[in-house]
Amino acid sequence: MRLVLVGPPGAGKGTQAEFIAAHLAVPKISTGDIFRANVAQGTPLGVEAKRYMDAGQLVPDEVTINMVADRLAEPDATDGFLLDGFPRTVPQAIALDKMLIELSSGLDVVLELVVENEEVVRRLSGRRTCRGCGKIWHVEFDAPQREGFCDRCGSELFQRDDDKPETIAARLEVYARDTAPLVDYYGARGVLVGIDATGPVEDITVRAIDALQSYG
Ligand code: AP5
Ligand code: ZN
Repeated sequence: MRLVLVGPPGAGKGTQAEFIAAHLAVPKISTGDIFRANVAQGTPLGVEAKRYMDAGQLVPDEVTINMVADRLAEPDATDGFLLDGFPRTVPQAIALDKMLIELSSGLDVVLELVVENEEVVRRLSGRRTCRGCGKIWHVEFDAPQREGFCDRCGSELFQRDDDKPETIAARLEVYARDTAPLVDYYGARGVLVGIDATGPVEDITVRAIDALQSYG
């Protein structure tokens, strides 16, 4: 299945992507994760991306599109993929359509995670990420047994630089302006399915998998 996850920052895309990709046996491709890995390694791409990420702004389309095109050309993405965080603008969506035509395929479904702004602010403010395995935690909603350390691999947890209150506000504005129009873009094509992304993580995964059943 070729699937895109869309939803505001903090909607739970990264959290759900892991379970859904494992269920569908497709690679999870997260542009945010790829940028953060480049930032951590200090690559030229990371240095450029960091400026935008720290301000809660989008990395320019051209940079992002080229990065995704390279990733989708890798062999593990041939039979399907889950894209988390891409596309995020209408030009990125148009570029994705072109990439898939060149690869003789197309999108099966776009899954929208629907959550109110108040809830996403709560989720982002308490998010912690594992330095070792990347697992996403929350200080209140999904806390590890030992504070500050990952239950799964024992590594230290950290708070993302872009989860500061002023950056969260900027990211929500960017979402409303640049990314929310994708809901209409894909809705008009009949590939959009929205689910309520509030409540326990496991319940949302079940809702997502149910919603995907009639696609692909
Ligand atoms: P990216 O990493 O994609 O960030 P985002 O879209 O802002 O999404 P988040 O990762 O913040 O949230 P999420 O929806 O994955 O939520 P999560 O599962 O972590 O992008 C970061 C930056 O990179 C961008 O700002 C931009 O600069 C750049 N970038 C990336 N892609 C780009 C693109 N295509 N074009 C241009 N620039 C791009 O959950 C959040 C928290 O909530 C966690 O703590 C989690 O434990 C908790 N939680 C999850 N589910 C629940 C639940 N059901 N109940 C309670 N808590 C929950
Ligand atoms: Zn870990």
